[in-house]
Amino acid sequence: MTTDQIEQHGLSEEIESARSGALAGLASLTDFDAAEAWERQWLGPKGTVTLLLRGLGKLPKEERPIAGRATQTLRAELEAAFAPVRDRLHAAALDAQLASEAIDITLPGRVPSMGIAHPVSQMIDELIEIWAHLGFQAVFGPEVESGRYNFDLLNIPKDHPARDVWDTIIVDTPSEEIVLRTHTSPMQARTMERLKPPVRVIVPGKAFRFEAQDASHEWMFTQLEGLAVDEHLTMADLKGVLQEMARQLFGPERRVRFRCDFFPFVEPGVDFSVDCAICNGKGCRVCKHTGWLEMGGAGMVHPKVLEGVGYDSEKYTGFAFGLGIDRIIMMKYGVDDVRAFAANDLRFLRQFANVAI
Ligand code: FA5
Repeated sequence: MTTDQIEQHGLSEEIESARSGALAGLASLTDFDAAEAWERQWLGPKGTVTLLLRGLGKLPKEERPIAGRATQTLRAELEAAFAPVRDRLHAAALDAQLASEAIDITLPGRVPSMGIAHPVSQMIDELIEIWAHLGFQAVFGPEVESGRYNFDLLNIPKDHPARDVWDTIIVDTPSEEIVLRTHTSPMQARTMERLKPPVRVIVPGKAFRFEAQDASHEWMFTQLEGLAVDEHLTMADLKGVLQEMARQLFGPERRVRFRCDFFPFVEPGVDFSVDCAICNGKGCRVCKHTGWLEMGGAGMVHPKVLEGVGYDSEKYTGFAFGLGIDRIIMMKYGVDDVRAFAANDLRFLRQFANVAI
């Protein structure tokens, strides 16, 4: 088929008008979206060139090869003309996107806010470490206790006046009294029931008392109980370990003082003080000008307590102590109000960020 023959069928005209239309459109493209639309319009599966190719089938058989070649030439021509325009507009679109979504990698990162352990938790960790070196294992017990462990097995029978020494918060009274433990001492009997001598444990934990709050009294506070049971233990052993703890906590020059005191579960019983680290025993506001800071109670485990858990009190002796952990922190860091520990004031708590061990 000659060009004349194609013209006869109007195809040459269609190809020519497609060519000029497509090239004019191509010249006016200014962005990548328009370029993609142009490609769909002229070269896409439903585009003009494809339709022209499909239309070839309607031509007489002998005309198809020439008409087909002419259309393929048009397609190749348009594809060749389109490629650089598409690449240029694509690069421009990418540049614009990168510019609008630019990330300034020179900005410093945001420092995550790292929490710190509560000062009481920090002190518990420090005490566990000190006592581990003295051969004491840390154990933990329930904060809601039965009257049996909080009182009875500690030689404080029902209706005994000593029961009133602690202002107990009673949770329930079903068959027996259920209380918030008033001290960590219930863990003495619980531990001895589980272990045979020799026993060496410390018990850090919360205690609760129905107490008028003031600068040195909270209704919820933290104690450190200690218990050792073995053959031949004496007050000298008790004094030795408490002195060592005081030195580790407050410095090697610290001295300890024992004075007689009464607790139903020890005999003899003592109160235990450390000479004030803040004024070096001279007397100051923190030690109320006595030169000594009281830390807790202690003594030799009462034979009735040993017998209550089935220990042979002729063979074994033991010592026990109970210290106020909040008060230890107060002494060590000069905190003058125990209520600060539960007040959740970050300005107070953040001061302990640098003393974390
Ligand atoms: C006892 O609780 C005895 N269980 C201690 C003990 C254990 C004696 C083993 C003998 C053998 P006391 O009630 O004194 O004892 O309390 C001991 C310490 O806990 C006190 O010296 C004080 O440091 C602390 N403490 C007591 N009550 C409060 C309170 N309301 N707020 C803050 N700390 C307290």
